[in-house]
Amino acid sequence: MRFQNAIGLGLILAAAPCSAQDPVWSPDVANIIYDHCASCHHQGGIGPFSLMSNADVVANGIVVAEAVQTRHMPPWPADPNYRHFAHENVLTQGEIDAVVDWVNFGAPFGDPLLEPDPPVFLPGGSLLDTIDFQVAIPPYTLQYNTDEYRWFVIENPFPRPSM
Ligand code: HEC
Repeated sequence: MRFQNAIGLGLILAAAPCSAQDPVWSPDVANIIYDHCASCHHQGGIGPFSLMSNADVVANGIVVAEAVQTRHMPPWPADPNYRHFAHENVLTQGEIDAVVDWVNFGAPFGDPLLEPDPPVFLPGGSLLDTIDFQVAIPPYTLQYNTDEYRWFVIENPFPRPSM
């Protein structure tokens, strides 16, 4: 009798369309993308397209999955197995699997009530919440067609380094 019950349970689980662990956009994948990608991938950011909504990420699902699986994104050239840095932006293997599985399982939405709001960025692409001080460099025209490294000397108006 007990044996039969165990078989019955097994069949029910196998027939379920998805298990509790299957990643969904809201809230799992949304939190990963907003925490690790949106800082560059928003309007005016340095990323080539926006990842600031479910529609944005679904539309780019295949390339997003490939970029995280190959660890091309988020860009982090330092080896996190060797040394950790403050504010490092590296996905755990669990986070990578969640994004890739989510795309492969057809990008299910999840619970709309749990969807986090996208982060807010200042116009102009700054990652700082507030800007204390701004300086302008004199206009400069690039001389060559290659990358050019140049120092611009700017007067420091502060009496000593701020802590
Ligand atoms: C530090 C800024 C930055 C962060 C953070 C970042 N990206 Fe990018 N991303 C870029 C830039 C710049 C490019 C274009 C140059 C390139 O492809 O290397 C890019 C390109 C891409 C591309 C185009 C295809 C490819 O692989 O080049 C995808 C897809 C992508 N990013 C997804 C992501 C995802 C997903 C995350 C978060 C897990 C993320 N990015 C985090 C800056 C960023």
